[in-house]
Amino acid sequence: MAENNNLKLASTMEGRVEQLAEQRQVIEAGGGERRVEKQHSQGKQTARERLNNLLDPHSFDEVGAFRKHRTTLFGMDKAVVPADGVVTGRGTILGRPVHAASQDFTVMGGSAGETQSTKVVETMEQALLTGTPFLFFYDSGGARIQEGIDSLSGYGKMFFANVKLSGVVPQIAIIAGPCAGGASYSPALTDFIIMTKKAHMFITGPQVIKSVTGEDVTADELGGAEAHMAISGNIHFVAEDDDAAELIAKKLLSFLPQNNTEEASFVNPNNDVSPNTELRDIVPIDGKKGYDVRDVIAKIVDWGDYLEVKAGYATNLVTAFARVNGRSVGIVANQPSVMSGCLDINASDKAAEFVNFCDSFNIPLVQLVDVPGFLPGVQQEYGGIIRHGAKMLYAYSEATVPKITVVLRKAYGGSYLAMCNRDLGADAVYAWPSAEIAVMGAEGAANVIFRKEIKAADDPDAMRAEKIEEYQNAFNTPYVAAARGQVDDVIDPADTRRKIASALEMYATKRQTRPAKKHGNFPC
Ligand code: HXC
Repeated sequence: MAENNNLKLASTMEGRVEQLAEQRQVIEAGGGERRVEKQHSQGKQTARERLNNLLDPHSFDEVGAFRKHRTTLFGMDKAVVPADGVVTGRGTILGRPVHAASQDFTVMGGSAGETQSTKVVETMEQALLTGTPFLFFYDSGGARIQEGIDSLSGYGKMFFANVKLSGVVPQIAIIAGPCAGGASYSPALTDFIIMTKKAHMFITGPQVIKSVTGEDVTADELGGAEAHMAISGNIHFVAEDDDAAELIAKKLLSFLPQNNTEEASFVNPNNDVSPNTELRDIVPIDGKKGYDVRDVIAKIVDWGDYLEVKAGYATNLVTAFARVNGRSVGIVANQPSVMSGCLDINASDKAAEFVNFCDSFNIPLVQLVDVPGFLPGVQQEYGGIIRHGAKMLYAYSEATVPKITVVLRKAYGGSYLAMCNRDLGADAVYAWPSAEIAVMGAEGAANVIFRKEIKAADDPDAMRAEKIEEYQNAFNTPYVAAARGQVDDVIDPADTRRKIASALEMYATKRQTRPAKKHGNFPC
């Protein structure tokens, strides 16, 4: 049976219900068996399978299954285009309402014409109206070529809606198939992008690049999930396949509130905040030695469970969602095992974006600081480390959520400020006894201020060592900062979880306003 064009209506209710079921069957078959098989043979789920797997069982209520395009050119008047290539509606995830859309590649390659975009935008508007998260599976050949500029206009409306929802309800993009050209700006305007290894995303594909610049590159190298994670930093999570992407989306949502007027719900709290002496053994006192800061995170958060965001990008900084005593937190931590934990352009962008998101959605921030400075180098300077680093200063200064900073070891110079020190509005600041809060490392400092003494000494190396130790003892400790009130307390590492949990409790009622303005000018 064809779609509902020229349907001869049955004369009984039973007959009408049968017709309804038949029509629904046609719509739910998407582009038909052959195309569904092709989708499956590529290791991809169909649009409906994705939604059914993402949402709680039997919770999906489809909206707009019968919508149709109104194009007549290029044979479109005769084309069967079920649901116009996108499945839209609402349902629940872990019991919480969401709105969702899923492009159906089996229907005209999931291409987006006027009606498809309208359906997506209407779903987004419903998410806005009801204060519920919006999730979108992208799997499409882009603008529907037969519809010309109506398709472009549809994308424009999607971008506009993405921006309207930004900061009001969480938006999660799942790139599960092709997403090319200007279409990729829609996910780029959401909060998080999860991308499967079966998908590709680029502005111009390999062939266009070859013809314009002569460069040879494969689709995977150019726009595969690994490239977008490790090199471009465009995405937040890599998923092996659709199943994995759906699990990531569910876990991610569990840390987030429904919208910007709510707080994330308490989930499975671990009330045990007793001292954990294992925390004393992770960070070496010797500042030249590295360690994995994720070992510290795992011992601070509930059940050792956290979700790393952009885990493969700017790995000198870790950003992660976790819970402490049941409360969602966003963790920003320097990673001393990579580039000694220096802040560079990419790490600054990664941190600023994450801080900005957490502040938009009332998620308190916890900083774990062990940072020797901003990365020196001509490429960093030419690349704009000044404006990129400024994004961190801006994001932290602007954030009004509770901000808790724990200095584990190094906290030098501008990078100490960029990791949210007291002056940037940290509400609670703790330092471990291993902390070195100073304008710079003792070695560099001694070489500058004792240059003459070292040069004049009979044994310059011995004199240098002596002066480094002198400076280290005088300044590279947590106690000078504590004496100035930059640090609230110097704590036993074993007590860190308890201190963070109690600060989160205290500052849960924090209310802070800023001068009224249209919006600030975030450094770009
Ligand atoms: C209409 C399209 C389409 C499109 C694919 N199809 N893309 N129909 N408009 N944009 C149809 C195909 O004709 C085919 O129909 C079916 O979808 C599946 O496509 P295949 O090519 O068979 O699939 P595959 O081999 O997997 O290749 C996928 C693909 C390729 C790489 C995405 O289809 C492709 O290159 N499509 C065109 C991409 C493109 O140029 N898009 C417009 C970009 S401009 P049948 O009936 O055979 O199943 C743009 C501007 C947006 O997007 C700007 C926003 C600001």
